[in-house]
This record gives sequence, C-alpha cells and structure tokens, in this order.
Amino acid sequence: MPQNFKLAPSILSADFSDLQNALSICDEGGAHWIHVDVMDNQFVPNLTIGPPVVKSLRPKTEKFMDVHMMVINPEKLVEQFAKAGADNITFHIEATDDPDGVIDLIKSFGCKVGISLKSKTPLSDILPVLEKVDVVLIMSVEPGFGGQGYLAGSNDRISELKQILTNKNLGHILIEVDGGIKLHNAQEVMDAGADVLVAGSEVFKADDPVQTIKDFYQLAE
Ligand code: DX5
Ligand code: ZN
Repeated sequence: MPQNFKLAPSILSADFSDLQNALSICDEGGAHWIHVDVMDNQFVPNLTIGPPVVKSLRPKTEKFMDVHMMVINPEKLVEQFAKAGADNITFHIEATDDPDGVIDLIKSFGCKVGISLKSKTPLSDILPVLEKVDVVLIMSVEPGFGGQGYLAGSNDRISELKQILTNKNLGHILIEVDGGIKLHNAQEVMDAGADVLVAGSEVFKADDPVQTIKDFYQLAE
C-alpha cells in the first residue's frame, strides 16, 4: 500500500466545455494532482489541449498540475508548459533521442520531471536517465484515448520497476500508473507498487465524480 497515495484525475475525460467544473470536482473530492493529457496527433492519433488551457486553469487551482506530453519533439513544448504553470512535465522516452536534454530543459524551468513509457517499451530503456527523474509514468493502456481497458501485465511491470527503484536506492521516485484505472482494480495496482494513479473516465464519467475520488482514497487507507 503506498505511504502517500495520490489520485491524478485526467481532465481528458472531463467536459471540455466546463473545465471549471472539473476543477471543482477535484477540489471537493480532495484529489492531489490534476492530470493534463497533451496529444499532438503525431505521437498518438489524437489531438487534445495545449499550453493555453494550462495557463487558464493555473490561477483557478492550487493543485499539482501534472502535464503528460504525448508528443513528438517534446523539447519544443517544455518552455510553454512551464510558463503556463505546469508543476510536473512528463514526456515519452519513445519521443526523443535526447532524453537527458529534455530532462535538463524541464528542470531548468523549475518543474518536476517525469518519464513515460508505452506498455511494449522495455523498462531498460529508461534506466540511463532514471536517476534524473522525479516520476516514472507507466502506461497501462496504449496512449491516445481515455476509457480503455487496463492492459494485462501492467502490474508485473509496476512491481519490476518498484524493485529496480528499491535496489538502486531511488525510492523517492514516484511510480504513476496511467490508463484503465478503476475502483475495482486500483487496489492491485497500488499493491504492485503504484504511488500515483491516473483516473479519467472512472472519475469524470461517474454518476458521482466527487464520491468516486473519495472512494479511491478510501481504498488507499
Ligand atoms: C491516455 C492518457 C490517460 C487517459 C486515462 O493516453 O494518457 O491519462 O486519459 O483515462 P482512463 O482513466 O479513462 O483510462
Ligand atoms: Zn495520461
């Protein structure tokens, strides 16, 4: 069970015509993070939101803004998201041949840095930069859309990563898991080693989104 569990509701599944309501749901529910899914229709076959949305949300919430960049050339968007108010900026190891450079750039703006990998990308691909990041975002769906099913085998990857972090004395690095997280599978994902869970459709498509957030935290107690 994670010591300090955090839920990161993904606003991709919220009503984009009323993101203020999405923030209110996160506030009332007590979520720690807000997960912002950025897609460029290049790295993934979908196009979502950019820095202007983060800029407009920033003054309306104190919550930790967790930007997940599913984009090619992530270095081209770092400054804009940092200046828009992102607290954490996560990019994909598959999207760059200079992960060190992207990490250093994100850090140069004072943001936390996350590295993400798709389900078929070996964990070994992030080992060279592991010590430099604050968050590892494990994808438990194929990136591009909310509302997909949790990929089998994800728990094993989470446990394997947890073991690597423990062996390397990198226990301060957070394991965030993203995609297909529901109330019915959250416990096993936490038990596998997740510290932060992203939940989009489970929260924002729920009959009672606020209660759903509270239910996730109850599971972690
Ligand atoms: C998928 C995104 C996820 C997704 C989560 O590419 O990175 O954050 O929005 O949505 P659910 O929880 O519905 O799978
Ligand atoms: Zn995401």
